[in-house]
Amino acid sequence: MIGSRLLAYDVVESTNDLLKSMSSFTPHGTVVWALEQTRGRGRFGRKWFSPKGGLWFSVLIKGRKGLAPYYYTMLFSLSVIRFLEKEGVEAGVKWPNDIYIGHKKIGGILVESVEETRSVLVVGVGLNVNNPIPDEIKERAINLRELVGREYALSSVLKDILSFADRMYSRYIVGDEREYLTIMWKRKQILKKGAKIRVRIGMDEKTMEAELLEVEPTGLLLDIGGVSEFYSFVEVVEW
Ligand code: BTN
Repeated sequence: MIGSRLLAYDVVESTNDLLKSMSSFTPHGTVVWALEQTRGRGRFGRKWFSPKGGLWFSVLIKGRKGLAPYYYTMLFSLSVIRFLEKEGVEAGVKWPNDIYIGHKKIGGILVESVEETRSVLVVGVGLNVNNPIPDEIKERAINLRELVGREYALSSVLKDILSFADRMYSRYIVGDEREYLTIMWKRKQILKKGAKIRVRIGMDEKTMEAELLEVEPTGLLLDIGGVSEFYSFVEVVEW
């Protein structure tokens, strides 16, 4: 069961790294939660600012051999969104792993494989809850406290998200309803079909204008200069 074992820490480098290091002797569903991370990581190995007041945790997933990691990105994104909706906050997913309120990021998911077989995965979740947002990123990021006007007990936010995740895991992953998970996730996209967006492709520094034709868990179908192509290693920088 997801969350049946909870290991809580004051400060760690990264909950993903700590959980990976104990994955061989730790059961499926174990959660590592830290009040603060000194080397929190995001997509593309970027630094994930993780001061006190935010919710930073990772979940160990074992035993679903060969199941693509993106199913867990979708599942945990939807669990966080469900929690936010319960608090009266409308949130969406920006492909592939960001959680947004309008144009401001509130959280993100980072799924990493422990083994080549993909049968052991660590799902990291970061959510800005009570942590202050630095002035230089206030235009692009937000926390829950600001949205709702009160502080949250992190343990209860964690408990709620894990309980949504556990229910979705039983239904969509164990119950083999993965197509429905994808449909639900597609409905929550903030990037809409037909939108004119700006993207960065692969390791390229320069950005390009594109029309968004389709969002899939594995990538985006884009029309760039009249040519439509499917891109997996892409980042949407303006929308
Ligand atoms: C992203 O938006 O790029 C994903 C951010 C994921 C951050 C979380 S915080 C808990 C876990 N530990 C990490 O080092 N990263 C993830």
